Amino acid sequence: MSLKKPTKVIGISSGKGGVGKTTVSVNIAAALVKQGLDVLLLDGDLGLANVQLALGAASEYNFSHVLSGGKTLDEVVVKTSSGVDLVPGASGLKDLASLSEKETGSVIQAFSSLTKQYDIFIIDTAAGISTSVVSLLGACHHRIIVLKDDPSSIADAYATIKVLFLEGITQDIYLLPNEVTGMEHGSQLFRNLNKVIVKFLGFEASYAGFVKQDDAIPLAWKKALPIVSCLPNSQSAREFRNLANFVNNLSSKMDDTGGLQFFFNQLHSPSRSASLGG
Ligand SMILES: Nc1ncnc2c1ncn2[C@@H]1O[C@H](COP(=O)(O)OP(=O)(O)OP(=O)(O)O)[C@@H](O)[C@H]1O
Ligand SMILES: [Mg+2]
Repeated sequence: MSLKKPTKVIGISSGKGGVGKTTVSVNIAAALVKQGLDVLLLDGDLGLANVQLALGAASEYNFSHVLSGGKTLDEVVVKTSSGVDLVPGASGLKDLASLSEKETGSVIQAFSSLTKQYDIFIIDTAAGISTSVVSLLGACHHRIIVLKDDPSSIADAYATIKVLFLEGITQDIYLLPNEVTGMEHGSQLFRNLNKVIVKFLGFEASYAGFVKQDDAIPLAWKKALPIVSCLPNSQSAREFRNLANFVNNLSSKMDDTGGLQFFFNQLHSPSRSASLGG
């Protein structure tokens, strides 16, 4: 009998860089921890150690040491002060979607041998719309696309969703407007992009909620802490707690019987598009 609880896998992406993926990832993760959940965050950024900086963590090892077989995942996971467990990224992550069968086997083994069983696994993907980012997103249960109200961010969010669509993935895609002026601006941005998605791709994305522009966010970055930890009474901390509730309420997939195995099986399943396409 398996006592493993299902792990909900959430991918955070944007296409365009610098629109708030890492801010959103670390703050949703930290807010979920405050709700009592066990959260693992994977830094999909290649070599920039962005998430480590945002969480004030330093690590000697990263995911490449797991891929090369030198370290177990338990040895690589960093416990951060906000309670989020972090897998530091590595340039090896680029190849996560193109591993050999043997390597895939060891990654699955690595994740299923984690001592702690996580409720939620968040992947902060790298900027851009590379094959590996799309594969990672495709393998997640849910995908959150962060965007700002500027033409290149909107175009890149749409381009990401279009590539997902071309891969047969049209479900469990959520838009998250960041740095907006308020609720109306956020839902307006959502509605505008969603109209384009409906018109040209023929399906609807969902709304995840919004985050306002807040000068306290770069300040929290400087303190190397999530804003939900260092300024819990701020407006944006409240918004991140709302987003954490949203993530918490997303469905766990019943086909996920073995923790994170589902994720890696999806990542390498040739029929992924067919099974996730909907
Ligand atoms: N709502 C907000 N209000 C004010 N500043 C913000 C907000 N969201 C993010 N920022 C700031 O914008 C910058 C970029 O954010 P972040 O690093 O989270 O983006 P990213 O998408 O992860 O970037 P990259 O593509 O480089 O990984 C940071 O300095 C961050 O503090
Ligand atoms: Mg980032």
